[in-house]
Amino acid sequence: MRNLPDTAKINKQNHLEIGGVDLVDLAKEYGTPLFVMDEATIRSRCRKYIDSFRKYYPNSDIAFACKALCAAGVIKIVTDEGLCLDVSSGGEAYTALKSGVDPKKIYFHGNNKSIDELKMAVEAGFGRIMVDTSQEIKNLDAVTRELGRRAEVMLRINPGIEAHTHEYIKTGLIDSKFGVPRNEIDEAVRFIRAQKLISLVGFHAHIGSQIFDTKPFVDEAKLLLELTKRYGTKEINLGGGPGIAYLSSDEPPDIETYAKIVGDVLRDKTGAKLALEPGRSIVGTAGVTLYTVGAVKDVPDVRKYVLVDGGMADNPRPILYKAVYDAKVANKVNDKPVEKVTIGGRFCESGDILVRDIKLPEIEAGDLLAVLCTGAYSYSMSSNYNRVPRPAMVLVNNGAATLILKRETYDDLIRNDIIL
Ligand code: LLP
Repeated sequence: MRNLPDTAKINKQNHLEIGGVDLVDLAKEYGTPLFVMDEATIRSRCRKYIDSFRKYYPNSDIAFACKALCAAGVIKIVTDEGLCLDVSSGGEAYTALKSGVDPKKIYFHGNNKSIDELKMAVEAGFGRIMVDTSQEIKNLDAVTRELGRRAEVMLRINPGIEAHTHEYIKTGLIDSKFGVPRNEIDEAVRFIRAQKLISLVGFHAHIGSQIFDTKPFVDEAKLLLELTKRYGTKEINLGGGPGIAYLSSDEPPDIETYAKIVGDVLRDKTGAKLALEPGRSIVGTAGVTLYTVGAVKDVPDVRKYVLVDGGMADNPRPILYKAVYDAKVANKVNDKPVEKVTIGGRFCESGDILVRDIKLPEIEAGDLLAVLCTGAYSYSMSSNYNRVPRPAMVLVNNGAATLILKRETYDDLIRNDIIL
């Protein structure tokens, strides 16, 4: 199934298994909620990107957008597969540097970077810095002069392209806080070129996330191609990748199709290097979140709630974007689905619903629920709402589990409290 990790299986005990590891055993060992990441799926998506672009546009770099999942254990895998890294804050950049990523392979984003963040990027020698406003260009100029070091930048433009996705994750509309509007590109290019220690390498755009339609990507590639010709630049950065199937009925374009449509627009035109920054399509399907059912509450003639030990703090996507997820009862996967239930979280908000109206097997307290496709933008957007510690994360592969993020403790939660 498209919305399960590649290695998912149902074993003889009727349990869900990922990476050769029984999820029931995993929950016993590490507790719940638990983020489970399948290493083989992450590696296979990285390879698919590299192989597809080698085929359709060989002069390209793939950078993992670590805003989708920033954890040293994951950064290690993707960079090991030959990917670069897209970071969008000093914190992500720090994690990348501490994980041993070559600074030249780091692309630094952010629509309002602080002076300290710019200093960090220039000092460490990050490969590319994406600039978004003239104020930022001025700030970067001051930083390069102060440090006596050069910076290679890409100008983020606002492509004004409509992509069909949730309003909050569209980024390329005219009315957007991201990128330089099209009618100001000329002035911005002149301004960058007037700075002593900054070189303009090319143009960058990002049209949004969780996009299934391929046409906006074609339009975006055409626009960046035109700018590359007009200004004689040498690099094109198309931003994030295509969407993924959260439900088995979803039909996103696969990575190879995406590479083909983009490659067909750009190939044999300028010789510019292409860069892409997929996040969700690398880690999204690789992850599931395991929860323990604490109680089942039947509201007669209304709905049956299945209450689990996590929710909006470990996965805010349903409450933020009305995101829809699929789930399996991991300790009885193949039992017959008997009734529609709604999976509610443990947090103090009525909107803390993980999955609405899903048909599942008979379910009771103590059962183990696996919510699918939570590898992207769950942990990275998690919070400590209600002062609940964040879950642990394990990587599974070839029958073994490796802890890559420790479960937070109550002491972690009060670490910054000043007790008067
Ligand atoms: N590059 C840039 C400049 C971006 O802003 C993003 C995502 C990406 C790359 C990666 O895009 P992807 O391949 O993952 O679609 N929190 C939202 C998603 C926000 C995406 C923001 N930018 C969600 O949970 O759906």
